[in-house]
Amino acid sequence: MTSKTSPDPQLVRSDFPSGFRWGTSTSSYQIEGAAQEDGRVESIWDRFCAQPGTIRDGSSGLVACDHYHRWPQDLDLARELGTNAYRFSIAWPRLFGDGTTVNAKGLDFYERLVDGMLERGLEPWPTLYHWDLPQALQEQGGWVNRGTVHAFTDFVDAVTRRLGDRVRNWITHNEPWCTAMHGNWDGMHAPGNKDLRIALQVCHHVLLSHGLAVPIVRANVKDAHVGIALSLHPIRSASDKAEDIAATYRHDGLRNRWFLDPLFGKGYPEDVLALVGDAAPGIEAGEMEAIAVPTDFMGLNYYFPEKIADAPDNPPLHGKVVHPQDVERTAFGWEVAPDGLSQLLRRIDREYGPREIHVTENGSSYDDVVDNGEVRDVQRRSYLIRHLDAMREAIADGVPVKGYFAWSLLDNFEWAEGYTRRFGLTYVDFDTQQRILKDSGKWYRDFLVK
Ligand code: FCB
Repeated sequence: MTSKTSPDPQLVRSDFPSGFRWGTSTSSYQIEGAAQEDGRVESIWDRFCAQPGTIRDGSSGLVACDHYHRWPQDLDLARELGTNAYRFSIAWPRLFGDGTTVNAKGLDFYERLVDGMLERGLEPWPTLYHWDLPQALQEQGGWVNRGTVHAFTDFVDAVTRRLGDRVRNWITHNEPWCTAMHGNWDGMHAPGNKDLRIALQVCHHVLLSHGLAVPIVRANVKDAHVGIALSLHPIRSASDKAEDIAATYRHDGLRNRWFLDPLFGKGYPEDVLALVGDAAPGIEAGEMEAIAVPTDFMGLNYYFPEKIADAPDNPPLHGKVVHPQDVERTAFGWEVAPDGLSQLLRRIDREYGPREIHVTENGSSYDDVVDNGEVRDVQRRSYLIRHLDAMREAIADGVPVKGYFAWSLLDNFEWAEGYTRRFGLTYVDFDTQQRILKDSGKWYRDFLVK
C-alpha cells in the first residue's frame, strides 16, 4: 500500500459558495441505541445482528452511541463544529409499533430532536429510510413484497404531517444499492438473502417507494426540498484491454446506471436487463413513470472507486473487482481517490442534470487511538481536505453542488463491521460513551468557524 506524498491543499470556507450547506451525517440504527424503549419494535437489523457470524465483532446497535439519551450533547457537538445542517435518519420501528398505528412517543422523540437542531442553527436533513425496516414487515416478505411500498408511504405521510411545518429537506432513501444488494444478493446486510432476483425486485420496490413518497412529502411540506441519496462509484478499468473496458461498462451498469437511469426517466438500462435475464424485476404499469418523479436534488454518497477486470466465468456481469496494491487505502481497505468525487459530480451533472447535488456522505475509517485525550487522525483530516478540494474543483466547473455532509459526526455501529470501523469526526469510547473531538473534527471546525 502506498501513502500520499503531496501536501494537502490549503482551503478556506470562502473558496465555496455562500449559502452552502455544511453538515455531518448519521443514521438511526448506527447511533441511537435504546432499541427497546418507548415502544420501538424490532427491526431487521436487530434480528440480523442476533444471528451468529453476521457482525464482525458480534455486536449490535442495541446501545450504539446512546444518542437516544445523549442527543442534546451530540447536537451541541454539531453546533460547535460550526456546521449549519445535520443529516440523520428516522427509525421506522420507533413510529409504527404494530405496523399500522403510529407510536406517539416515537414521533415525539423526532420532534424534540428536530427542535433541538433548530435551536442550535442546524438545518434538519432527515432520511426516511436508512435500512432499519420493522421486522414485522420483513415477516411479510420485506421490500420484495409490494405491500411494503405502501407501508412506507403511510410512514412517510405520518412523519411529514407531523414535522413538515419545521423540516423542509427530505431524503427518501439512503443507498438503494445497499438495501437491495448487500441485503439480498451478497447477504452481508439484513435481512441476509443471497438471491439476485430478490435483490432486483427489492431494488425496484425501493425506487418505486421513493417515487410514490415524493408527492406525499410535497403535499405535507410547504416549500419541500426532496431527493434521494445514492451510493455511486466511479468504475475504472483494471487495464486498457478491450475486455476489461467492456467489463467495466457492465459493472457501471449495475452499480450506477441501474439507479440513475430510472430515476431520471430513462428506464432500466437495456444492457443490464439483458445480462440479468430472468432475475429482472417484475414491473407494473405506471411504475417507471412514478420512479422518474422530478426531485429537487440528488444526494451523492461517495467513498471509493472500483477497478474492474474481465471475468468470463463470473455471471451475470462477467467481471470482477480487483484490488491493486499500489494505491492509497483507508484502514477499511477502501481506495482513497478524491478525483473520483469530482469525476462523479461532473458525470452526474453532464449525463443526468439534477437541479442540485448534495454530497450526503463522504468519509474514511482509520484505526484511531486516544493519546493523552487527543485523537491525531491525520489521515482522516487529509482525506477530508482532499475530498473538499475535489468538490471545489467540480463547483468551479459549474456543477451545482450545494451541500456537503461528512460521514460521520460520531464513531458508530458500522453495520457488518460492528464497532471495528471508526468513521467519526468525533471519537466515541463505547464503554464510557465519552466523546472526543478528533483532529479531523478540529480541522473541520476551524475551516467552518474561522
Ligand atoms: C454508507 C452508509 C453509512 C455508513 C457508511 C460508511 O454506505 O450509508 O450508513 O455505514 O457507508
